[in-house]
Amino acid sequence: MSGFIDFQNEIYLGGLGGVVPELPMTAAGLEARAAAELDPVAYAYVAGSASSERTAAANRSAFDRYRIVPRMLRGTTGPGARDLSVEVLGTRLAAPVLTAPIGVLGLVYDGGEVIAAEVTKELGIGTVLSTAASSTIEEVGAAADAWWYQLYWPNDDELARSFVTRAERAGAEAIVVTVDTPMLGWRPRDLELAHLPFLHGKGIANYLSDPVFLAKLSAPPQESAEAMRAAILTWAGLFGNHGLRPADLAHLREWTDLPIAVKGILHPDDARQMVDAGADAVVVSNHGGRQVDGSIAALDALPAVVATVGDRADVLFDSGVRTGSDLLIALALGAKAVLYGRPWAYGLGIAGRDGMRHALRLLLADFDSALGLSGCAGPADLNRSLIATVR
Ligand code: FNR
Repeated sequence: MSGFIDFQNEIYLGGLGGVVPELPMTAAGLEARAAAELDPVAYAYVAGSASSERTAAANRSAFDRYRIVPRMLRGTTGPGARDLSVEVLGTRLAAPVLTAPIGVLGLVYDGGEVIAAEVTKELGIGTVLSTAASSTIEEVGAAADAWWYQLYWPNDDELARSFVTRAERAGAEAIVVTVDTPMLGWRPRDLELAHLPFLHGKGIANYLSDPVFLAKLSAPPQESAEAMRAAILTWAGLFGNHGLRPADLAHLREWTDLPIAVKGILHPDDARQMVDAGADAVVVSNHGGRQVDGSIAALDALPAVVATVGDRADVLFDSGVRTGSDLLIALALGAKAVLYGRPWAYGLGIAGRDGMRHALRLLLADFDSALGLSGCAGPADLNRSLIATVR
């Protein structure tokens, strides 16, 4: 039974007492506030995409080519009429949403990953912890309920295995291997500020807390500035794995019993290869347009991937979701769940825990409303018959 729409009543009832929301009611509003209020370095890091940023723009405009064709008088609008819950990769979620792995949240707000874990737990949705986090796997595992671990597969299998083992021990329910970032995209906003957080020792908490990583250092990083510099250089040499191939997923399969998702897939043949190699799911994503500028909008890549592997793997989606109707459209095109990205990071940056909760509640209430008003009682009612394409 869904209560996400209750956010609407809460706000209107507040209005009776003269209370209006302190935070914007749209993702676009959150972004504008973040642009005005966040430290410029943090804002550039979150908002920036690759090169001309036209793929980031295409991620949004792709949604404009789809329209919902709502169905009427189906009894889906009353109290208790809807159930938004789903099970994805064995994880039960109150709505088909997990927060996308966003690295270096400490840049945006201190303890961001743990707050993300706590807030998603409170709302009953999932969170995906980035390898490039400011908090450790164990800290997030202790705070989260439904969470998955996103692996940036390092250039050292022993270290990769250690990350995966730590995540499984800490209670992660799936491993998400991101394959679109063996090196960083060309990101002008960060380049203009000459800012790469990792070189400042930010976003490498999982390395600095890892026994395999620490064994590679001649001195503990906390010992001196020089030792920290050496640790950062060691990180730089290990981050990208340029030799990784689909067949390597077999190693991951040996290291863990958890379901495996491969994130960053746009080509249907890649989706097929990953599933053939043992992936249980693929995440159709272009990393929010941060990697290959000019690449296909993620939503435009979704239908072919669903047609190719949808019968034997779960297909998830991210890149460009900003409203409940976006979420509805992605699900109607065959996604089982979406990873929600930048808007909650803006909320977190503007107002910490409350801002993050607000950003997520906006999406969930909007989705709950769109679903009910379209004549759907839950995600299982969504399919292509509910959407039209427009030019
Ligand atoms: C990301 N993303 C990302 N993905 C990943 O697998 N590991 C990571 O560490 C990060 N880090 C990261 C940082 C920032 C600041 C952003 C904006 C994104 C990509 C993320 O998981 C997701 O694919 C995108 O955020 C989706 O695009 P939108 O919807 O946020 O525009």
